[in-house]
Amino acid sequence: MNNNKKYSRETHLIYGKAFTTKWDYNHHVVPPISSSTTFRLDSVERGALGFSEFEHISEISDSEPPIYIYDRLGEPNKEILEENLAAAESGETAVTFSSGMSAISGVLGILTKSGDEIVAHKTLYGCTFSLLNNWYPRYNIKTIKVDLTNPENLRKVVTDKTRVVYFETPANPNLEIIDIETIVKIVAEFNKSRDESNQIKIVVDNTFATPFCQRPIEWGVDFVVHSLTKNIGGFGTDMGGVVIGKLKYRDMLMLYRKDFGGVLSSKSAWPIMVYGLPSLAVRMQREIDNAKKVAEFLAQHPKVQFVNYPGLPSFRFYETAKKQMRDFHGNFAPGNMIYFALKGETAEEGREKGREMMNYIAKNAYTLTLAVSLGHVRTLIEHPGSMTHSMIPAEEQIKEGIDPAGIRMSIGLENGDDIIKDLEDALNHI
Ligand SMILES: Cc1ncc(COP(=O)(O)O)c(C=O)c1O
Repeated sequence: MNNNKKYSRETHLIYGKAFTTKWDYNHHVVPPISSSTTFRLDSVERGALGFSEFEHISEISDSEPPIYIYDRLGEPNKEILEENLAAAESGETAVTFSSGMSAISGVLGILTKSGDEIVAHKTLYGCTFSLLNNWYPRYNIKTIKVDLTNPENLRKVVTDKTRVVYFETPANPNLEIIDIETIVKIVAEFNKSRDESNQIKIVVDNTFATPFCQRPIEWGVDFVVHSLTKNIGGFGTDMGGVVIGKLKYRDMLMLYRKDFGGVLSSKSAWPIMVYGLPSLAVRMQREIDNAKKVAEFLAQHPKVQFVNYPGLPSFRFYETAKKQMRDFHGNFAPGNMIYFALKGETAEEGREKGREMMNYIAKNAYTLTLAVSLGHVRTLIEHPGSMTHSMIPAEEQIKEGIDPAGIRMSIGLENGDDIIKDLEDALNHI
């Protein structure tokens, strides 16, 4: 029924395991939506068995249907989605969460304790940055930020207390690319002399790339996290997150989710499972085709200072992107995110131009939507310098690694020529 080698990965995104023990719905073509916070138990003994199995889920045979007890512990829609997400990322297991942030705090929650240290790339999604900077110090967990675009920098900051190396590649928002293979090699050197409890684990936020463009577990990283709110969900209707990794961590992740409570609603798991994941490959391919055209257009425009797009040969990290961003068939798959900046005499002027362009787009563009988030059927555009970080003076933004003129685009499914039309019009008006 489920011959992994015989069928392509795009096909597996649609059919999943073909047969699942998570729920007996054999006569439905689409898994029915499950909406039950609690489950009837035939006897107290079955309840007791269910609780004891939950503590050791990773040891329970997958050939028997699970004993469901309560939604926060597990229920069918989430668990079918988890099987399919694990397969998409080449992981052994997946545990879903209520949002990307909830998944990130879940994996870091099981890997760290008071006194431990995390090494993170200097450029991170804002809320991940805030989690590490504002909250973890309260639990005596320190984060050392370093430029991992040069992986050798890792050697300078790892200490006996390091437990996690964390990064996004491509990074949000500037699309810096981290060489996964080299980071894995360096961490393995440190781990050689460490026992299991002191091993350094690598966690990669693969949200920007999606499993269609990059599968870090195949390069040897321990965990992948995603915001399912983005391209995996794909339609901008539901929030979600996932941690994917080795089966032996499933128990801890499930217990963490049970106690911290960041559980994915079954009503959100369902559209991600039924619409999002099955259409991921076809959406990504179209978005990549569009993004290439848009990046090339921007790169030759006289008002544009630079364009960061993993598929542009002029991009600083093009070679690393080409090595690790590959679709299921090994073709270069540089994703749908673009970061570019407008020319300005000063940093402040660059920011002002960005602000003007955003306001023009908000009023006049049909195919560009001024909005945060990414991985949507519509092209979304935003300008961190005059939006999320508007209170910080331009010179200060540079110190924090934010280009005041930097504009982030998430390319959608429109006709690519229409996106270019709207961009050209906006650039003509600033
Ligand atoms: C790279 C990255 N990781 C994680 C998140 C957090 O995801 P969520 O909004 O689903 O919590 C985001 C959100 O924008 C993101 O861009």
